Amino acid sequence: MNTVLTYGTFDLFHIGHLRLLERARALGDRLIVAVSTDTFNEGKGKRTVIPYADRAAIVQALKIVDEVIPEESWEQKRDDIRRFNVTTFVMGDDWAGKFDDLKDACDVVYLPRTDGISTTELKQSMALLGQIIRELR
Ligand code: CTP
Repeated sequence: MNTVLTYGTFDLFHIGHLRLLERARALGDRLIVAVSTDTFNEGKGKRTVIPYADRAAIVQALKIVDEVIPEESWEQKRDDIRRFNVTTFVMGDDWAGKFDDLKDACDVVYLPRTDGISTTELKQSMALLGQIIRELR
């Protein structure tokens, strides 16, 4: 049984998130997704549109996802790998090289991101639309 583990915020869930999770799942038999909590994100100065409970529920509802756990700190990865007998740790290649220190615990794979979409861009589009609507009033 090969277990794959990945981490992310998954705010405003989009096709790039889905493609990443599908490819991660294809690397093993079981996929665990650690979803960043609101408190952890606040510590990074990141504010989500969708609260943790809803982001976690959306990811958990995917048939390719076996389990969702909260991501609450930068340091938990090694413990999670041990606790869930993880064989492959996956991140998008925006993190390339950043988690190579985990290679003594399991395989570390960076998958290419899907072009042309990100939560940041979606938020920018929403902000722009809001501005246009305000100007039209
Ligand atoms: N991801 C991806 N392709 C995209 C966007 C995200 O493969 N176009 C991957 C990321 O590399 C990460 C996972 O999806 O492994 C979760 O990404 P997250 O950081 O939650 O989403 P982003 O859309 O990248 O959000 P942001 O713009 O806030 O960084």
